[in-house]
Amino acid sequence: MKKGVQKIYTEVAHRYDLINHVMTLGLDILWRKSAARAAGSFSPQQILDVCCGTGDMSVAISRQAPPGALVTGADFSLPMLRLAEGKSYSSQAAFVLSDVGCLPFPQETFDLLAISFATRNLDSGPEALVGFFREFHRVLKPGGVFIHLETSQPRGRLLRSLFHAYVRTLVRPLGSRLSGSAAGYRYLAHTIPRFYPAEELSSLLVRAGFASVDCRPFLFHMAALHTAHKSLFTFGGKGV
Ligand SMILES: C[S@@+](CC[C@H](N)C(=O)[O-])C[C@H]1O[C@@H](n2cnc3c(N)ncnc32)[C@H](O)[C@@H]1O
Repeated sequence: MKKGVQKIYTEVAHRYDLINHVMTLGLDILWRKSAARAAGSFSPQQILDVCCGTGDMSVAISRQAPPGALVTGADFSLPMLRLAEGKSYSSQAAFVLSDVGCLPFPQETFDLLAISFATRNLDSGPEALVGFFREFHRVLKPGGVFIHLETSQPRGRLLRSLFHAYVRTLVRPLGSRLSGSAAGYRYLAHTIPRFYPAEELSSLLVRAGFASVDCRPFLFHMAALHTAHKSLFTFGGKGV
């Protein structure tokens, strides 16, 4: 699956931003901005944006971070990273080619780690996802913060069905058409209805070792911003 996802992003990189903005009517920009503001409120100096893609979140965070802060973006798609580099000329951001399942950083390196609209692309079985979150927890300093922005699941059955129908009938065909990758957007659209509701995601974060998790829903829970905290005191890599 990993190779398949890498291939999809290599194919759709040139149209990725446009497709996102069209399909969310620009809401993705506002949601990233809110997440970046939340990130900036912790005044982090060393920041890692995993699955950074074309770098929109990295740049948004660097604008909210205190002077001197450095944002590192990590992604395994070179075409996505090239686009990110093109956007980051005015910001304090640097980019590395890396698989986020095994990050090339020592433990306790970052004050804050962010991921936006990418968790669905990782192997999202609960055990695998907890494994990714543990890796993120590892590279955070004690007291560090994990900012997680992703699509979620509306609460009521009717809203949820409408949301999934929107993804099926609009996101999938429009994404396929604009990107030229029918298989890519079939897969990406397929991951949205299958992703976790906010409460389940919070439980997985706690299982991965985060001490506390707050959640802020956007647009009737169509997306959610989770903020998870690593304990100040760790014992054998686990928060106590
Ligand atoms: C939907 S894009 C999100 C990009 C960006 N964070 C945003 O907010 O638009 C998902 C990104 O995750 C990357 N990705 C998926 N799995 C990855 C992995 N295992 N390691 C590194 N990057 C990965 C893809 O290459 C792609 O750039």
